[in-house]
Amino acid sequence: MDRYVVMGNPISHSLSPTIHAAFARTTKESIEYTGLLVPLGQFARSARRFFDEGGRGANVTLPFKLDAFDLAATKTDRAIVAGAANFLIARGGAIEADNTDGAGLVTDLTHNQGVRLGGAHILVLGAGGAARGIVAPLLACKPARLVIANRTAARALELAARFGDHGPVEGVALDAIPRDRYDLVLNATSTSTHGETLPVPAHALPPGAFAYDLAYGAGARAFVERATAVGMKAADGLGMLVEQAAESFELWRGVRPETRPVLAELRARMA
Ligand code: ATR
Repeated sequence: MDRYVVMGNPISHSLSPTIHAAFARTTKESIEYTGLLVPLGQFARSARRFFDEGGRGANVTLPFKLDAFDLAATKTDRAIVAGAANFLIARGGAIEADNTDGAGLVTDLTHNQGVRLGGAHILVLGAGGAARGIVAPLLACKPARLVIANRTAARALELAARFGDHGPVEGVALDAIPRDRYDLVLNATSTSTHGETLPVPAHALPPGAFAYDLAYGAGARAFVERATAVGMKAADGLGMLVEQAAESFELWRGVRPETRPVLAELRARMA
């Protein structure tokens, strides 16, 4: 049976083995997909061992996405643009890196949530690793404006400069968010997972707009509830997780699994 893993630390909470088991069932692909706890500082050694022993592919989660990118002999354009990889595949004895996170987000927003990105006014909160991976895929959908707002303004400016060639992007401080009719506000800060409140002005959460937290479950609850309370539509990042998994599965197996039943099953289980 072809073997796949998700590598991270911690890893026991990962939903990826459950998601890929469901994909394997529905597509009738015969694969094994398990979680692999990687000791900090040991990513390259663990990944090499896994592939040397015949492993076919790996997803990579925190805190190893930069290590996965560095390890790979070849990298896809979208991994290069993100500067990070959540996907590895064995190709003729070498390891190739890709990044399916951005595609997962865009598919969830457009197909599952019905958000239109073309011509949209988008606000991204945060300028860390999570934000860096989504800016280029969002700009590829041709929004009218994309504002990156961050507590440390310099990081937002840096990120905007990095992606300036990809579309209309600007960086600002969290307390200097320009007033606009934002259609979509994404929380890419780590405040959700750390249980901290995100200090944003009221005009950054406009009623009627769509709010999306890249985290999912309990971690995203505070942002989602706050957005809903002011009259926004809101979702957490569970759909992004399932869609990036589907993108990975298709790259490995050549078959696109259906995501809606898996998403519904996970939602029901987390309720
Ligand atoms: P990740 O890989 O999860 O993005 P990161 O690279 O450490 O993690 O980035 C964390 C992001 O959350 C940053 O944008 C950070 O802002 P700073 O660049 O100013 O540190 C943001 N963040 C974390 N805690 C925050 C808080 N209490 N208020 C506002 N922003 C916060």
